[in-house]
Amino acid sequence: MSIRRDFFENATELLTQLPRGAFLSVRANGTANTMTIGWGMMGFIWRKPILMVMVRFSRHTYGLMEASDTFTVSFPSSDGYKEMLAQAGKLSGRDMDKFRDLHIPIQEAQTVDGPVIDNCGLIIECRTLYKQAMNPNDLDEEIRTNFYADDDYHMLYYGEVLACYHNDK
Ligand SMILES: Cc1cc2nc3c(=O)[nH]c(=O)nc-3n(C[C@H](O)[C@H](O)[C@H](O)COP(=O)(O)O)c2cc1C
Repeated sequence: MSIRRDFFENATELLTQLPRGAFLSVRANGTANTMTIGWGMMGFIWRKPILMVMVRFSRHTYGLMEASDTFTVSFPSSDGYKEMLAQAGKLSGRDMDKFRDLHIPIQEAQTVDGPVIDNCGLIIECRTLYKQAMNPNDLDEEIRTNFYADDDYHMLYYGEVLACYHNDK
């Protein structure tokens, strides 16, 4: 298995599903959570395959991402997870255990300490190599007005792809 080749060969699937929603999952200090993401980038930096995800400071997930150096992203390959994606993208792990209360099945990741969504589709496991908080001063005015009126900016996490596989077949 070649992580780099597998990652890039699944680019179309990853980028097609991302705007429809994927599960960003992380465990830190014994607590795990998942939230829906719709934005991100895949690329090749530092001679490594990279998946970048964007987490607003207000998210419960943000605190967990800060306390952990790994994360996973699970991209559903069928509509079976549509309702769970909607709920995980609305409710907060601050108030509930989403895995338990929303009946989101999980299995342990292969290369990092954290969960992935079970029987889901394309799974990416990452180790954060770099993070960068958005600087409002450097942001296009229209984007700022449209997406950040409440000053709730994103932290960008650049994850080295450690594993890339399907768990739905
Ligand atoms: C389709 C969809 C895509 C989303 N994409 C993102 C995203 O890329 N980054 C982000 O910070 N929040 C995103 N959200 C919002 C979070 O999923 C939502 O605020 C969630 O309740 C946060 O959960 P948490 O507080 O447990 O971390 C998205 C929501 C939906 C429904």
